[in-house]
Amino acid sequence: MTRNPSRAGAVLAFAFALLAPAAARGQEDGSRISEATQACLFCHENLHPGLVADWRLSRHARTTMAEALAVDEPARRVSTPGVPEELRDVVVGCAECHTHAPDTHPDTVEHGEARVHPVVTPRDCALCHPREVDEYGQNLMAHAYENLLGNDLFSDLADRINGVESWTDGALAPRTPHAATTDDSCLACHGTDVQVVRRETRDTGLGEMEFPVLTGWPNVGVGRVNPDGSRGSCSACHTRHEFSIAMARKPYTCAQCHKGPDVPAFKVWEVSKHGNIYAARGEGWDFEAVPWRPGRHFSAPTCATCHISRLVNDWDMTLAERTHRMNDRLDTRLFGLPYAHPHPKDPRTSTIRNRAGMPLPTELTGEPVATALIGADERAARRNAMQAVCLSCHSRSWIGGHFDRLDHSIATTNESTRTATAILLDAWRQGVATGPANGGSPFDETLERMWVDHWLMYANSTRFASAMMGADYGVFADGRYALAANLRRMQTLVRLDGGRR
Ligand code: HEC
Ligand code: HEC
Ligand code: HEC
Ligand code: HEC
Ligand code: HEC
Ligand code: HEC
Ligand code: HEC
Ligand code: HEC
Repeated sequence: MTRNPSRAGAVLAFAFALLAPAAARGQEDGSRISEATQACLFCHENLHPGLVADWRLSRHARTTMAEALAVDEPARRVSTPGVPEELRDVVVGCAECHTHAPDTHPDTVEHGEARVHPVVTPRDCALCHPREVDEYGQNLMAHAYENLLGNDLFSDLADRINGVESWTDGALAPRTPHAATTDDSCLACHGTDVQVVRRETRDTGLGEMEFPVLTGWPNVGVGRVNPDGSRGSCSACHTRHEFSIAMARKPYTCAQCHKGPDVPAFKVWEVSKHGNIYAARGEGWDFEAVPWRPGRHFSAPTCATCHISRLVNDWDMTLAERTHRMNDRLDTRLFGLPYAHPHPKDPRTSTIRNRAGMPLPTELTGEPVATALIGADERAARRNAMQAVCLSCHSRSWIGGHFDRLDHSIATTNESTRTATAILLDAWRQGVATGPANGGSPFDETLERMWVDHWLMYANSTRFASAMMGADYGVFADGRYALAANLRRMQTLVRLDGGRR
């Protein structure tokens, strides 16, 4: 191991001199913490007491891989069959995550005795949790950065929202947004592009140390592009440094990104019967247990229950498999682009092209781009997978009735979007608004914004309300009431020839 010939090196030598007697004193679980991690703790316990306290609360801090691997299914929490010998009998500490495979991390710096990278990526977690990492990579979330900015149409939408327009010659004129705005806006959830720009040396109070300077940092967006080329941030749902399963199973974790008017899953769930029961009874439920048993550990579903969790009954029969590929139970993409459609085959959606050459999974007239989307058999299998969850608490007829209503809502909201699109296409043809065929953005004029509201806010809200049982968001709160009113307003605007500005 090379030593950093700086002041930090000297401070570190001092730190290790102090550390040796501490280890000899035999701190309670000192022998289970690797020497490398003990060195980190020596400084960080006092530098970042909050951070280290979270780690101490985690299962990582109190479980060795040997112990984790000794647990049989269905209670096991690690998916690797084994790990290198040196990792077997130590708990998972700072060094085990932040110094793993340093050469694959462009953000690695000499940090005293060790080579540390601040951006711990899914590839590091894969050492012990390969199944979760592999599945997560097949999820729309892992590709949320490219799905947005790698798609000309969506990145135009982002620019039109984020770029502050100027008043020039008596008209609004577009301006390109600053990268910091996009990082703080869309990419807060979708994930930023984290790259190493340079390195800088700072005086830390413990001597000078070198640190990487990163773009798009900090960020825990689901599709974050990491310096090592991997995608995503596991801490989007498992906040560091507790990495708790209980936190991920609670709905507030998802609310961070699934709450706005375009994607109101959390609000819908909150006003549903399931959300009511959680509010009234949730405190007494067991969110730590693996396996998770409906009826025994909880009595109404959270987001995780329906979309992710493994559910097991008292005979240890699996009722639903756990999945980090969170589309295993989704047959329809409710999120209209601009129409709801069968789920995409590949989570990288920016490569899809419709007949008109636009990067959309549906035509503007509503037909799905069948070649890019899953077929009838796969749709049926996924719907069954979702219904298997419901079956742990409901009868078939209750569930069947629910999904019939959902299918109906999907059809009628698509119909409403078709009407709104017909108005817009007419406006483009008549020159009341300037569409792509005439070199205009489809997202900048008033009538076009109303059309975006139609599918992005109101049709989505209505479908989410129907799928996740929160009727309020399907009617007066951005639901059918808004859909009906918006069509009328669009008609008025076209007739007034006022759609242009
Ligand atoms: C000699 C004391 C010392 C030791 C030992 C030490 N660190 Fe640090 N570490 C620091 C200081 C000081 C900082 C800077 C804190 C700040 O920015 O305020 C830091 C920062 C960090 C950062 C953030 C870097 C960034 O760019 O944001 C990480 C990650 C980190 N340390 C991990 C570790 C790990 C893992 C170990 C053990 C392998 C370790 N440290 C050992 C003192 C130490
Ligand atoms: C969108 C939210 C979300 C993201 C992102 C996420 N997870 Fe999870 N994870 C969950 C939920 C929810 C559970 C609980 C599953 C259950 O109840 O069976 C979970 C459970 C786990 C478990 C416990 C498995 C067990 O057997 O007890 C591990 C390990 C895990 N996740 C690792 C990861 C890794 C690694 C990543 C990054 C690649 C990741 N997760 C990203 C939501 C997420
Ligand atoms: C299970 C893996 C894991 C372990 C164990 C771990 N870290 Fe981290 N650490 C992460 C992840 C993940 C991030 C956040 C990066 C991201 O967003 O993906 C992080 C971030 C950090 C940061 C930057 C956070 C900030 O808010 O500035 C520091 C500093 C840090 N870790 C130090 C430590 C120290 C000290 C320990 C030991 C007590 C430790 N880590 C243990 C995975 C780990
Ligand atoms: C060196 C192996 C190792 C690495 C690397 C690792 N973990 Fe773990 N993980 C474990 C062990 C051991 C447990 C505890 C298993 C047990 O308690 O049976 C665990 C448990 C978990 C759990 C379940 C916690 C709970 O409350 O049930 C989650 C979530 C998790 N890890 C996420 C991550 C994430 C995210 C990363 C990467 C940032 C990561 N782990 C990196 C070994 C590892
Ligand atoms: C608060 C978090 C959050 C922010 C901020 C955010 N989004 Fe999203 N976005 C989501 C979620 C959640 C989904 C997935 C919704 C679903 O499928 O139910 C999504 C999906 C999308 C999709 C669909 C992509 C595809 O092909 O799968 C587009 C397009 C999109 N968002 C555009 C934007 C734009 C443009 C911005 C910024 C102006 C933005 N989003 C900001 C959370 C966010
Ligand atoms: C940091 C933001 C963030 C958090 C936290 C988050 N999501 Fe997401 N989620 C997104 C974005 C963004 C997308 C859409 C990506 C796209 O379309 O490209 C998405 C997509 C999804 C999808 C569609 C996946 C697919 O492949 O079809 C599901 C299901 C989902 N999220 C469920 C959850 C659940 C459940 C939780 C909580 C356990 C959660 N999400 C937490 C941002 C987030
Ligand atoms: C009772 C089960 C249930 C609960 C609880 C639940 N969902 Fe859903 N969710 C569904 C169903 C059913 C669908 C539609 C599935 C389909 O038709 O493909 C869906 C669809 C979704 C989608 C996909 C949207 C798209 O664009 O296709 C996301 C994202 C989502 N839910 C997030 C959440 C979040 C976040 C929570 C918690 C706040 C949650 N769900 C709670 C059952 C549930
Ligand atoms: C862990 C148990 C559990 C699971 C899993 C579950 N539910 Fe429920 N659900 C309940 C309970 C309890 C109620 C409240 C019944 C009442 O109103 O008395 C309920 C209520 C409902 C309602 C009535 C809503 C209303 O306001 O009228 C519908 C519809 C429903 N569930 C559908 C589903 C569907 C569909 C799924 C699967 C996608 C599902 N549930 C999964 C426990 C569950």
